[in-house]
Amino acid sequence: MRKIIYPGTFDPITRGHADLIERASKMFDCVIIAVAASDKKQPLFSLDERVALVQQVTADIANTKVLGFSGLLVDLAKKQGASVLLRGLRTMKDFEYELPMANMNRMLAPEIDSIFLMPYEQHSYTSSTIVREIAQLKGDISGFVHPVVAKALQDKLGY
Ligand code: COA
Repeated sequence: MRKIIYPGTFDPITRGHADLIERASKMFDCVIIAVAASDKKQPLFSLDERVALVQQVTADIANTKVLGFSGLLVDLAKKQGASVLLRGLRTMKDFEYELPMANMNRMLAPEIDSIFLMPYEQHSYTSSTIVREIAQLKGDISGFVHPVVAKALQDKLGY
């Protein structure tokens, strides 16, 4: 079984993330979405809330599995039997950030490779931070996130 693991903070999951998950689900037998605790980022949503949102957004894609984690990504990949890591590339800036991370992961676990997919152009400028900011300012986020995420943001921000 070919398994790929897609890590991220997903605070919250956006349509850009979902686009990547959908693409990967057509190429691999199983896509494991690994939601990082990312305590340093002080996420708006708790780890359990982020995992639950990813589960709801990906419910229609049969070959996905969602996990929360807080250790090393490569250790989780080994434990889950996944030999490929997935990350998204939106702009050159992502590439500069991703290259050292991919190299470091390869040094830690040479048997695990990273692959990169590009989301649709309309998601190139989406990030969870921008979505949270627009939501905080009561802007329309329907184009950037699934309706369950939009509702969760409204509930969290109390409007
Ligand atoms: N569409 C929309 N937005 C996207 C996107 C896409 N396809 N791909 C990335 N983004 C955004 C994210 O929303 C996020 O935005 P934000 O910073 O505004 O929240 C940003 O781009 C990148 O963050 P994210 O994808 O959540 O990754 P991250 O940089 O927070 O997470 C981990 C990095 C979790 C993968 C990394 O820290 C990790 O592997 N941690 C585990 C510990 C470890 O193994 N460390 C050693 C690594 S070498």
